Amino acid sequence: MNDPAAGPVSGSPASPVQFPADFVWGTSTAAYQIEGAAREDGRTPSIWDTFSHTPGAVQGGDTGDTACDHYHRYPQDVALMSGLGMGGYRFSVSWPRVQPTGRGPAVQRGLDFYRSLVDELLAKGVTPVLTLYHWDLPQELEDAGGWPERDTAYRFADYAQLVADALGDRVDMWTTLNEPWCSAFLGYGSGVHAPGRTDPAAALRAAHHLNLAHGLATRQLRSTLPGRAQLSVSLNPAHVRARSASEADQDAARRIDALATRVFTGPMLHGRYDEDLMADTARITDWSHVRDGDLDIAGQPLDGLCLNYYTPSLVSAVTADDADVERRDGHGASAHSPWPGADRVAFHQSPGEQTAMGWSIDPTGMTELLLRFSREAPGLALYVTENGAAYEDKPDADGRVQDPERIRYLHQHITAVHDAMTAGADVRGYFLWSLLDNFEWAYGYSRRFGIVRVDYETQQRVPKASAEWYAELAGTGRLPE
Ligand code: NOJ
Repeated sequence: MNDPAAGPVSGSPASPVQFPADFVWGTSTAAYQIEGAAREDGRTPSIWDTFSHTPGAVQGGDTGDTACDHYHRYPQDVALMSGLGMGGYRFSVSWPRVQPTGRGPAVQRGLDFYRSLVDELLAKGVTPVLTLYHWDLPQELEDAGGWPERDTAYRFADYAQLVADALGDRVDMWTTLNEPWCSAFLGYGSGVHAPGRTDPAAALRAAHHLNLAHGLATRQLRSTLPGRAQLSVSLNPAHVRARSASEADQDAARRIDALATRVFTGPMLHGRYDEDLMADTARITDWSHVRDGDLDIAGQPLDGLCLNYYTPSLVSAVTADDADVERRDGHGASAHSPWPGADRVAFHQSPGEQTAMGWSIDPTGMTELLLRFSREAPGLALYVTENGAAYEDKPDADGRVQDPERIRYLHQHITAVHDAMTAGADVRGYFLWSLLDNFEWAYGYSRRFGIVRVDYETQQRVPKASAEWYAELAGTGRLPE
């Protein structure tokens, strides 16, 4: 926990919001969203290459073939971060760039790219935070069954070892999976993400094999990486609010908390699946895919817990009056639910302002989430590995963007992080999503989350006003007014 004597962490309105000097300020990206170079240097298709090339899957038919061309422009992008005074950078390694078929030896050119990127970061004093899996499963592994298949977890552990062997001497902060909820339930449940399957039982099996993959990789990295390595996972727990105090609405919130959050935090933090989750999903799966010993593996000790937060979820039980309720859950339209066993739950638009994703702005959810895991996982360092906002940026004649709404969103949420710290949460860093405008999955390039604008025609990068605002914060540790 933070020692109040160690630095000013006070949040009264009169005093400035000041963070400790060693708090890490950084930005986040992911391989498929920025790298491009989809067919270079031995890289093979991942499920996202296949999915994005499937007509109708991604808005505008956009693909990550070129994206931000970061593969060729990484020195410029690292210089950009360094110019903004960033202390950290969270990126992901593309599995099919490093191990094209998902099995066997690594491709040296793939590893060399990440080695050069990391060396460039270290040379500029930017701490690399490496995510092993941000959704780009090699297509060959999907063809063999994908995450619903147990073997994929073992393939992931082998891949993790290849990356650790190549980068373990220079990367200290490792996270296994990014938002496994999306991989399992959007990928195999609602089908709005790759590989686009709509099978609730497969989604639940995928969730378990992601838990197992996380544990297998963590166990392996722990035994081979230097002792200073910090191991973690990035989760997107749903911050669920019930629409009323009625028993039925509270039960709806409980179901979504189980299916969005505890399905991962149960195994990873406590080595168990909660009984209510298993009961709620009993008509979909008998959970016989969970073998003896799996939960001990999934529950390997961690050093940190990384949380991604954007918006809360407002839910209720479906009633007869809800015929016209918009059953949105903020994750894209699909006739299929990403919530197996919760079809009696309705999702509602929270009141108040929204970002261009249609996500309501609620910074208190950030504070509450951090405090929840501060209590639930005492002793783990907490990091916010994603938070940020998409807006319809309007560049001026010179291509510059004034983005006061994004600045306001960031101001509110970073204040909320500070509030959590004041209340005792051991938060060590904040990584803004995202450094660059990039490929926003099913929305393609239509949503811009960057603090740096990318002109996709010219690949020109232009820092927005929010980048200057964030640079000031990173430089002083004090929230600008
Ligand atoms: C979650 C994901 O990890 C990231 O890839 C995505 O772009 C952002 N949130 C915004 O939706």
